[in-house]
Amino acid sequence: MALQDKLDELARLKEQAKLGGGVRRIEQQHARGKLTARERIERLVDPGTFRELDAFVQHRATDFGLADQRYLGDAVVTGYARINGRLVFLFSQDFTVFGGSLSEAVATKVCKVMDLAMKNGAPVVGLNDSGGARIQEGVLSLAGYGDIFLRNVMSSGVIPQISVILGPCAGGAVYSPALTDFVFMTEGTGQMYITGPDVIKAVTGEEVTHEELGGALSHASRSGVAHFAIAGEEECLRQVARLLSFLPQNNAEDPPRLEPTDDPDREAEDLPVIVPDDPNRPYDMKEVVQRIVDHGDFMEVQERFAPNIVVGLARMAGRPVGIVGQQPMFLAGVIDIDSSVKCARFVRFCDAFNIPIITFVDVPGFMPGTSQEYGGIIRHGAKMLYAYAEATVAKISVITRKAYGGAYDVMSSKHLRGDVNYAWPGAEIAVMGADAAVNIVFREQIARAEDPEATRRALIADYQQKFNNPYAAAARGYIDDIIDPRQTRSYINAGLDMLEGKRDTNPPKKHGNIPL
Ligand code: HXC
Repeated sequence: MALQDKLDELARLKEQAKLGGGVRRIEQQHARGKLTARERIERLVDPGTFRELDAFVQHRATDFGLADQRYLGDAVVTGYARINGRLVFLFSQDFTVFGGSLSEAVATKVCKVMDLAMKNGAPVVGLNDSGGARIQEGVLSLAGYGDIFLRNVMSSGVIPQISVILGPCAGGAVYSPALTDFVFMTEGTGQMYITGPDVIKAVTGEEVTHEELGGALSHASRSGVAHFAIAGEEECLRQVARLLSFLPQNNAEDPPRLEPTDDPDREAEDLPVIVPDDPNRPYDMKEVVQRIVDHGDFMEVQERFAPNIVVGLARMAGRPVGIVGQQPMFLAGVIDIDSSVKCARFVRFCDAFNIPIITFVDVPGFMPGTSQEYGGIIRHGAKMLYAYAEATVAKISVITRKAYGGAYDVMSSKHLRGDVNYAWPGAEIAVMGADAAVNIVFREQIARAEDPEATRRALIADYQQKFNNPYAAAARGYIDDIIDPRQTRSYINAGLDMLEGKRDTNPPKKHGNIPL
């Protein structure tokens, strides 16, 4: 065969591979409101940078008539590309081929890019749209999942791993995304569950739709499995690229600093107005964050889950930072089970990838109640404490109003190796609020008093004067400085500059035993 004929044959095969399961199935995919595996990659990466691997791999199964049903590349497209100019490894499940199901060959392809990502220290993005284990391949398919799970775990904390759920993701297959750092889901098309509605109905009698059970909104607001629920695949993929822009390529690198374009000392005139004097009046902590970070650009993570705590990524003088803050608009910013788990995971992610953590504190304490106690608030609250204590990245906190009880300790306090701790002048740092404290400590004195109510009020005023301020903490050095709220950005940036070369370690150990 002449060279030209060989090249023509190659081009024909590559064109065939691009069609995946064929034109009819591509049309069905579009009719379902979904892009194809390759279209998704094109939307995600810098134009012309995708290099495909293993387009000639095919499954090797012969049972159930599979011997004569083979597709070039099988049910996944894999390779590497650039996003914002930076290397990333990708796999994109192809629903047009056996419903994107995972064969031995598919798993081998996915493992190859995961291994390359580890060797080259670059993130992996997995685009998921699959009917799960390839039924006809039995244990080979289950083995393939096992091989992927192992790589997810070994890569955890070494390279960022991002999962995007753009179609079904069912059964044990959910555990690969669950092991990764961030899960994006598209509203209306992305679905995740261990057992589907039919099995649930058969076993428990409960009736639930696919969307209610495992849709993006359910996982973003109820289970906390999804970090982002986004309408439309294109927007979802844009947000994946945005998230990557905050992250280092691997745990040995610092996150990418941009040229600062927002004055590091910019004052925020309205910050003192946003936070009301009255400690019981709510305000939106996100407004505080937006006034402080570069250009108000804040990428919130798990926005709809446990909204009593806010976590996300932003930049300060061009440096990526992790933001944590109580949200007084929801449950007065109290710490409960869900907010503990949300915060702890985010803090550990930032620590693993050298992203400094800025914590805004306005916390009335831990959530009381039997459902919280029986649900294990002790165990879950401990995760948050553990995460902050263990973190060795730069940790800066600002107490905007309340820091009561154990929650004071937890929230990046000096006692848990907080590096720089600021308080605004209205901050209240105490074991508990004045009302509750006086009722406990002076119960008898109030009962015996001639005018119990007047005595109680006087004791409360006395307590408030003594404890409801940041000065006792500052006098001990637990608070480094009490600052004008308007200058918070400047103080945080000065802290980050000072901590630029911070080195801190934990004692040598196999691993700690975080209370899971
Ligand atoms: C082989 C599969 C498949 C699978 C779908 N297909 N899932 N082939 N193995 N797991 C094929 C279908 O036969 C069909 O082929 C094509 O993909 C499209 O599927 P449809 O059913 O027509 O699509 P749709 O109506 O959109 O439904 C999608 C679906 C459904 C919800 C994913 O196909 C489904 O329920 N599939 C089975 C899901 C499942 O139970 N998987 C095992 C989970 S357990 P044709 O030729 O008609 O186009 C698991 C264990 C992992 O994954 C273990 C890890 C520890």
